[in-house]
Amino acid sequence: MNLNGKRALVTGGAVRIGRAITEALLAEGAEVIVHFRSSAKEAKALSPKTIQADLSDPAQCETLLERVFQQFGPIDILVNNAAVFHQTKLADATYDAVMRELQPNLLAPLALIRGFARQTKTGRIINLLDRRITSHDTTCIPYMLSKKGLEELTKLAALDLAPGITVNAVAPGAILPPPKDSDNPSWDYAGTIPLGQRPTPADVASAVLYLLKSDHITGQTIFVDGGQNLLGKDER
Ligand SMILES: NC(=O)c1ccc[n+]([C@@H]2O[C@H](COP(=O)([O-])OP(=O)(O)OC[C@H]3O[C@@H](n4cnc5c(N)ncnc54)[C@H](OP(=O)(O)O)[C@@H]3O)[C@@H](O)[C@H]2O)c1
Repeated sequence: MNLNGKRALVTGGAVRIGRAITEALLAEGAEVIVHFRSSAKEAKALSPKTIQADLSDPAQCETLLERVFQQFGPIDILVNNAAVFHQTKLADATYDAVMRELQPNLLAPLALIRGFARQTKTGRIINLLDRRITSHDTTCIPYMLSKKGLEELTKLAALDLAPGITVNAVAPGAILPPPKDSDNPSWDYAGTIPLGQRPTPADVASAVLYLLKSDHITGQTIFVDGGQNLLGKDER
């Protein structure tokens, strides 16, 4: 797919990795509708086309694509980037704690994919995963369930929506500290990276562009993590 002139929706597209994806798409000549929850100022600085929704609310997830269609017309590209991350061990993984993660990270992408498929029979979908989907991180169990679920949804939707719509994923490694730790200069959660350097948001965006441009790849995940997903538990 030539991205020039295509219309894209990037969830959580105003800041951090989402912002890098928005900027990369704009640089390709795409028209980007920047979805945001609270980063209104940052979204409007990037694009004149923005839309607000709280993806922790199932009703707002069900109507977001219809609102996008009414305001901007049909979209060609959906990037499910918005997500939350909390440290939650098994003992604390109550229904509410699990749904706090599953709703925005898995059920929102599912609702948006369904909305996308109702609008168009051709297009591209990208889901943002996490390099930890190859491991079993017990410090953030609801988050792990949400990202592993989204990996499976990527494959299921790829088969269900073929041949017109491709569905792929990008799994970042440790790119940026969680927002609450952003000002912590000693943040060093990256661990061992075989290629030696922490990838940047722009590296993640490059993988997104690669998958969007391909007419022959679906149901696949590109890890942008310097090889970290290949390491065993004690090597990370
Ligand atoms: N950062 C990393 O190193 C890393 C590592 C592995 C995977 N990832 C994945 O890569 C993607 C981007 O990572 P990131 O660190 O840039 O994400 P982030 O800053 O934690 O979150 C991205 C955006 O998601 C939006 N969001 C969160 N909850 C929402 C809700 N209830 N409704 C609507 N929007 C909501 C927020 O938008 P507003 O600002 O507008 O509120 C936020 O800016 C995520 O899927 C993440 O899981 C990131």
